[in-house]
Amino acid sequence: MELKTLLLSLAALPLTRAETVLGVYIFHRHGDRSAKSLPPVNLTSLGADQVFQSGNFYRERYVSSNASAPIHGLSTDIAVPSQLSVLSPSDAVLQSSSIAFLQGVYPPAGSLSVSTLANSSEVEAPLGGYQYVPVTSSTTASTSTNAESSEWLQGGSGCGNAVVSSNNYFQSAEYVSTLDSTKSFYSNLSPVIGGVFGSSQATFKNAYTIFDYLNVGRIHNATIPSSDLLTSETVFQLRTLADNHEWNLAYNESDTIRAVAGATLAAQILQQLNSTLTGKGATPVSIQFGAYASFMSFFGLAQLHKVSADFTGVVDYASSIVFELVTNATAVSSTSYPAAADVSVRFLMANGTAAQNPLTAYPLFGQGEVLLPWTTFASEMGKFAIGDTGAWCQACGNTTGVCASSSPSTSGSSDDSGSAASTSGNGISLPVAGVIGALVTLVVILGVEGLVYALVGLKLVKKSTLASALAGTGAVGSNGAAAGAKA
Ligand SMILES: *[C@@H]1O[C@H](CO)[C@@H](O)[C@H](O)[C@H]1NC(C)=O
Ligand SMILES: *[C@@H]1O[C@H](CO)[C@@H](O)[C@H](O)[C@H]1NC(C)=O
Ligand SMILES: *[C@@H]1O[C@H](CO)[C@@H](O)[C@H](O)[C@H]1NC(C)=O
Ligand SMILES: *[C@@H]1O[C@H](CO)[C@@H](O)[C@H](O)[C@H]1NC(C)=O
Ligand SMILES: *[C@@H]1O[C@H](CO)[C@@H](O)[C@H](O)[C@H]1NC(C)=O
Ligand SMILES: *[C@@H]1O[C@H](CO)[C@@H](O)[C@H](O)[C@H]1NC(C)=O
Ligand SMILES: *[C@@H]1O[C@H](CO)[C@@H](O)[C@H](O)[C@H]1NC(C)=O
Ligand SMILES: *[C@@H]1O[C@H](CO)[C@@H](O)[C@H](O)[C@H]1NC(C)=O
Ligand SMILES: *[C@@H]1O[C@H](CO)[C@@H](O)[C@H](O)[C@H]1NC(C)=O
Repeated sequence: MELKTLLLSLAALPLTRAETVLGVYIFHRHGDRSAKSLPPVNLTSLGADQVFQSGNFYRERYVSSNASAPIHGLSTDIAVPSQLSVLSPSDAVLQSSSIAFLQGVYPPAGSLSVSTLANSSEVEAPLGGYQYVPVTSSTTASTSTNAESSEWLQGGSGCGNAVVSSNNYFQSAEYVSTLDSTKSFYSNLSPVIGGVFGSSQATFKNAYTIFDYLNVGRIHNATIPSSDLLTSETVFQLRTLADNHEWNLAYNESDTIRAVAGATLAAQILQQLNSTLTGKGATPVSIQFGAYASFMSFFGLAQLHKVSADFTGVVDYASSIVFELVTNATAVSSTSYPAAADVSVRFLMANGTAAQNPLTAYPLFGQGEVLLPWTTFASEMGKFAIGDTGAWCQACGNTTGVCASSSPSTSGSSDDSGSAASTSGNGISLPVAGVIGALVTLVVILGVEGLVYALVGLKLVKKSTLASALAGTGAVGSNGAAAGAKA
């Protein structure tokens, strides 16, 4: 009898203790875009639709009045800017994506936007009550009130040790042997890529930009898919080689500074979710748009590639990862907010737009559990998160520029003077500049103004030298050429 009562109450538990979502952090890739090798890169209509649909998916999951997992305290139909923290690099494709996404999350408010004036006439906001959610861009982040916490958002773009680490990949036996073994594979593709990649550029060195060019062509250019050369096996090989190239630039298990983009992203996620908790839900939703390489760096650091080798592949357009702050504590209200000890974190991913691809939970940090106590999550993330300028400067071995004030000594190491002997017009040493280009492509998240200036200069150089970069003069020139897209 007692046992039966117990079983009954256990069965009733999920109903009476329904899970409450306290907040989320969403990191999102842009939608379909034009090819990186043909700048300026832009978001396509298809891409805008993908991110818009993703936004709509998250609206139905977290925001709308009939949402399947409503976020506690979040406004359902009218966007309240203080509840939303949205970040995107000042990049056309990523900024446009973030705006299209937000249109899906908070669509035009229609009659809800109508206000009645003193003289009793009614006014509806433009475009059917279009809602304006501010998207913080990298160039304004440093001048905003949280300038201090924004300084390190540049991630790996100017990180000395990460530059050296990525350069090492191009010296590795693995890279050299793949470069050799794929020579004929790439040169055989010249009929379809010859217009953009000459014979000296049609190599594994440009694995990602070649894949990208053909991938864009297969979506948008009717003559490309019909080519006999592009069999499904060849297409698969192109993708696999590009995945391999990008994964190795983004993460190396024995040289984790290479994943500095993932480390800074981890810190942002941790800080933002923590502020959701400490602020008792004042800002429950954080959204950031960024590059696929940041996904890869983070996947490596979070040990997701050990859960599935799929995590070593470049994520599809409009992919998203989500960190949900959840609790089973009863009666979450404005007056009673759960203690951190009662809160857990769930990690989910949709590969491609969440509207068409399942949002699936995966275990982080090799823990085998998809739901981690907040304290465990925070301490695991803390093991690799790089969360302030001082830590960034130390991890990167940088002592000048933004790091001048946060380092005990400003004298450059002898290694620096060796590689910086010849400098290009904008003061960046030539061998390093090519790799910075690669890293910009790979890991740019956001930046301090000083760093942005340096990078803007770099981007202009890279764009103007596209032809020579593609001609194979720079070690990783074609990646650098794509710097304008960053993603
Ligand atoms: C987008 O890029 C493609 C390819 O570079 C170009 O043909 C097209 O005109 C661009 N569209 C816009 C709106 O800039
Ligand atoms: C919520 O309601 C809207 C419109 O009323 C509907 O389109 C949508 O499918 C509903 N979502 C869920 C999760 O039930
Ligand atoms: C009511 O006030 C608004 C704003 O001052 C004005 O534009 C509008 O013409 C007024 N309507 C009438 C009917 O007076
Ligand atoms: C960090 O150091 C590297 C190598 O010395 C340099 O190229 C890069 O510009 C520095 N980054 C910053 C932000 O100062
Ligand atoms: C990873 O790092 C180790 C140690 O620095 C190095 O030996 C190895 O070649 C690297 N692998 C790649 C693919 O860069
Ligand atoms: C489409 O592909 C063909 C064949 O590779 C190429 O000649 C043409 O320039 C491409 N068109 C566009 C708009 O990229
Ligand atoms: C969360 O924020 C509080 C208050 O700023 C701070 O004391 C605490 O160390 C933070 N926790 C984590 C895990 O970052
Ligand atoms: C996402 O999809 C791409 C292409 O379909 C694949 O290469 C990659 O491994 C997938 N990633 C994950 C985590 O499933
Ligand atoms: C809440 O309880 C349900 C049912 O027991 C369980 O599936 C879910 O994982 C729990 N969530 C948390 C955050 O503990």
